[in-house]
Amino acid sequence: MTNKIAVLPGDGIGPEIVAEAIKVLECLRQDFGLEVELESAVVGGAGYDAHGVPLPPATLDLARAADAVLLGAVGGPQWESLDIAVRPERALLQLRSELALFANLRPAVLFPQLAAASTLKPEVVAGLDIMIVRELTGGIYFGTPRGVHTRTDGQREGVNTLVYAEHEIARIARVAFDIATRRGRRVCSVDKANVLECTELWREVVTQVAGDYPDIELTHMYVDNAAMQLVRDPKQFDVLVTTNMFGDILSDAAAMLTGSIGMLPSASLDAQSKGMYEPIHGSAPDIAGRGVANPLATILSLAMMLRYTLNQPEYAVRIEAAVARVLDQGLRTADIFAGDGEQVRTAQMGDAVVAALRSS
Ligand code: IPM
Ligand code: MG
Repeated sequence: MTNKIAVLPGDGIGPEIVAEAIKVLECLRQDFGLEVELESAVVGGAGYDAHGVPLPPATLDLARAADAVLLGAVGGPQWESLDIAVRPERALLQLRSELALFANLRPAVLFPQLAAASTLKPEVVAGLDIMIVRELTGGIYFGTPRGVHTRTDGQREGVNTLVYAEHEIARIARVAFDIATRRGRRVCSVDKANVLECTELWREVVTQVAGDYPDIELTHMYVDNAAMQLVRDPKQFDVLVTTNMFGDILSDAAAMLTGSIGMLPSASLDAQSKGMYEPIHGSAPDIAGRGVANPLATILSLAMMLRYTLNQPEYAVRIEAAVARVLDQGLRTADIFAGDGEQVRTAQMGDAVVAALRSS
């Protein structure tokens, strides 16, 4: 069966890095018999410029109809002054919510070749392999009431609401426990149960769900401590499960443990494992258009797509091996260049991955 992939390059470095991932897909199609069809659409600032909204209806329709979505990045300074309702980031939130992509998987894996690129000591990060499971369609990102209004005393007041229903907590907990079953069998649930009632409920529900997974060791950690532990001793973690906003923050910290946020892929899945795949770095407007961005996070996102949505893990393994191979060859984009090896541009890196695939 031919899988349909919606390709949404977006803004900033998005189009450059997505172009490299498409080279990899094309190679798998032509040389290895992968059956896929691609169709592209504008999203984010590009969507706003073309159609006046960051998520044009045709783009949403394409994403809905597709088996999986590959997204580059959205946002940039030229759209920052727009009303929040039409800012590029809104497209991401709408896609997550409209497609019910409640489970965000953000692996932080250190390729041993890059141990020197991390700002942490090599012995702290060597062998790092964490999976952050972030709830993605609830919490303070979507809770109501929200907004800024003027009170009767004339003061303006800003409001956002942290809200989780039990079923939202239970389903993300199950995703985390299922993943842990196939990994190190340890889940750490991160909350702020000492202060926030909503996450007191989170802790209670996660503990309940754990009853169905007797082989998994469940621990709980407050988010402030988790932030500290992530940089103190990150290897203590196997799977971390947490709320939308805590997951947003902790996954950036975890990314840096691996040397560069330019290396990290992500998957956002619905209940049927249909998914949207994107690098976790943003649109990097400071380097956009210069051909120096690291395409590996996007290429690794493609590998996640093959594993989690298209159920063709053998292709995922090939891609991951090809990435390891180019790192072995010493090829480094600027963000992971630590003095040795050869510094290469975006397209050279993509071409090298394709060459490594071909010779595998
Ligand atoms: C992420 C990003 C997004 C988020 C932004 C761009 C809306 O930071 O995917 O982590 O906060 O979720
Ligand atoms: Mg983020």
